[in-house]
Amino acid sequence: MARIEGVAACLFDAYGTLFDFASAAARCEDVPADRRAALTDLWRDRQLQYSWLRTLQRRYVDFESVTGDALDFALETFGLAEPSRRARLMDLYLTLDAYPDAASTLRRLRAAGLRTAILSNGSPAMLASAVAHSGLGDLLDMTVSVDEVGAFKTDPATYARALARLGIEAQRTLFVSSNGWDAYAGSDFGMKVAWCNRRGQPPERLPGRPDAVIASLADVPALLGLA
Ligand code: LAC
Repeated sequence: MARIEGVAACLFDAYGTLFDFASAAARCEDVPADRRAALTDLWRDRQLQYSWLRTLQRRYVDFESVTGDALDFALETFGLAEPSRRARLMDLYLTLDAYPDAASTLRRLRAAGLRTAILSNGSPAMLASAVAHSGLGDLLDMTVSVDEVGAFKTDPATYARALARLGIEAQRTLFVSSNGWDAYAGSDFGMKVAWCNRRGQPPERLPGRPDAVIASLADVPALLGLA
């Protein structure tokens, strides 16, 4: 694995990277077991599409609203629309499981003197809840929400805001995202990037080029020569 030099801070995407968004439907007894994976996929697809489209249309609302709208679309598609089920799934989204490799990786990076942070589409309240529930708070220097700029990724202003908050240059930052589109955009913006390609997807055909493709967050320390 090629080593990435000169990094002083690691910036992580949240949903799909540190937090497993599939754990909401997976833990929801109100959703038939054989529908949970499909519901998760459609919910996520619409959530992302709505975030991109609202940014294009300059019709920003926060990610909690987008997530609720996407859930309504997905539930109705599967004939599962019902207020208490919706409320339960939205609640579960606030307490997602962290991936098992998240805490140990953050701990290792911090022990080596690197700064760690989140940059996410999530609203400040959603992120505060997920971070508190996962116990990752003590392992993070800061959490930056795109809500501060009123646009979703991949608007360059979102990446710029995280770097401004950290007070660091793009070239000194390793951005880690499991979302290919996010990883490519972070690279195009000028950060060093590790694409945590959990699903083994093919390369995106988009501007940018991740410096490394890894299968798990546990590979990050070795990328920086720390393992
Ligand atoms: C986030 C989504 C894109 O956390 O995963 O920003």
